[in-house]
Amino acid sequence: MASLISRRQFAADAVALSLSTLVPRGVFGQSNSTQRVTILTDSEIGLIRPDLHGHFAEHISGCVYSGLWVGTKSPIPNIEGYRKQAVEYLRELGVPVLRWPGGCFADDYHWRDGIGPLDKRPKSVNMHWGGYTEDNSFGTHEFIGLCKQIGAEPYFAGNVGSGTPEELRDWVEYCNYPSGSTLSDERIANGSREPFAVRYWGVGNENWGCGGQMSPEEYSALYRRHANFMRTLGGTELFLIACGPSGNDAAWSRGVMNGFGGRRRLPQGFAMHYYSRGKDNPVNFTLEHMNEQLSSFAQIEKAVTQQRALLDGFDNGSKVNLIMDEWGVWDKLVPEEQKRYGQLFEQITMRGAVAAGLGLNLFNRQADKLYMCNIAQIMNCLHSVLLTDGPEGERCVRTTTYYAYMLFKAHRSRNAVRVETADSDPLGLSVSASRKDNEVVISLVNPRGDSDLDVKCTLPGVTAKQASAQILHDNDFNAYNSFDNPGRVILRDHAVTLEGSKVRLDLPRLSVATVTLRIA
Ligand code: AHR
Repeated sequence: MASLISRRQFAADAVALSLSTLVPRGVFGQSNSTQRVTILTDSEIGLIRPDLHGHFAEHISGCVYSGLWVGTKSPIPNIEGYRKQAVEYLRELGVPVLRWPGGCFADDYHWRDGIGPLDKRPKSVNMHWGGYTEDNSFGTHEFIGLCKQIGAEPYFAGNVGSGTPEELRDWVEYCNYPSGSTLSDERIANGSREPFAVRYWGVGNENWGCGGQMSPEEYSALYRRHANFMRTLGGTELFLIACGPSGNDAAWSRGVMNGFGGRRRLPQGFAMHYYSRGKDNPVNFTLEHMNEQLSSFAQIEKAVTQQRALLDGFDNGSKVNLIMDEWGVWDKLVPEEQKRYGQLFEQITMRGAVAAGLGLNLFNRQADKLYMCNIAQIMNCLHSVLLTDGPEGERCVRTTTYYAYMLFKAHRSRNAVRVETADSDPLGLSVSASRKDNEVVISLVNPRGDSDLDVKCTLPGVTAKQASAQILHDNDFNAYNSFDNPGRVILRDHAVTLEGSKVRLDLPRLSVATVTLRIA
């Protein structure tokens, strides 16, 4: 639940407080406005690849160990070592692609540490995330097993920062070569006759920072060397992903693309990272700081279009797919929670769901420019869809972000279509839509903490026959699903009315909604 208003906040939020004497910090007064939206159902943008709803799991405290993976001997209910509740929730959500093992961790990970008999695996120090030791009981086979459990396509982030081209090419052979080589036979001996057929390979991570503090020139030279030895073995065509910029850093992108020197073997993917930083603890946000954070999504949309244009400016650059490899809210973290739940643990509130909705909406609108987007991170870490009750805890809750993703599931594998809104404010109504056959799906986000909207959508040339809607909403932007109250913010059916080619619905402050229409 939201905390009560502090003395400092009391002054800052004077407008809101004129309406009530003691209200949760996230609750504000009434104001209504009508917003008109036009959905151009014949104006297609491009396919919404399911991978725009991808996820990321790094070895950080409770994300993998004790989160997704509890081990077969754990008293926590598990399926072959994977936390049962998490597997069930993730299956229901649908995880199209899962990136692993980092993050920063990837450039210090040596894959051979995570194969073979458990008791022979070395113990390694996770130097990026707190210097604790890991027993490597979760390695290549366990990750592939997890992907199979939840139906995700695996995406390996390879080590360029502290690894060698040989190490990375060997990982490819171990995973993908069917049989008959020493490495592929070792995989078979370790329990998998079937090759893993891993298609997505990151060639380093944030090599401008934790992945080696490189200049674009240094990185592109290393990329070329590593990529040269990563080959399609055994029929799985590799899709190599180069390290892209932090945010909208054009100098990095230009430098790396220049460094490829027009060579024929450009990467298939270029991975940008864009976090939306928050100035407050997750459940104690002020309206002002929430607005600042949510405004960043307009910048992200601009960054996507600008980075895409930059890549397109190079010879064959249009063949390099843009990937939003890490994104999400990164708030001011609470030290006690970091101790109890692990590094980068962050509570996810209604604000987090709105942020997720703004991100997913912009990915739909830019579906022709984006190939994959992975929110950071899937569990117990930053902008998660699942949180668990500490390393020994059995309880696992679906966050507000989980439900926001559920609301966007219907867009997967449909064609995004253009929408027009009158409001260009970064905190204005956010809309995206998609179409397949005679079904149109519209997602709407009201990011404002202080105004409810009456939304009128027109679909020129279309007669809507049937409509239904679901909404995720709480008046309190600090509200969240706690272990004691896991159903505080969940999906509910929402009223929507049809008037010929018009659709009308209320969109309360801080809400994410999806309308599904059957059209003639
Ligand atoms: O997601 C947490 C960290 O953020 C990742 O390890 C790194 O790639 C990024 O800086």
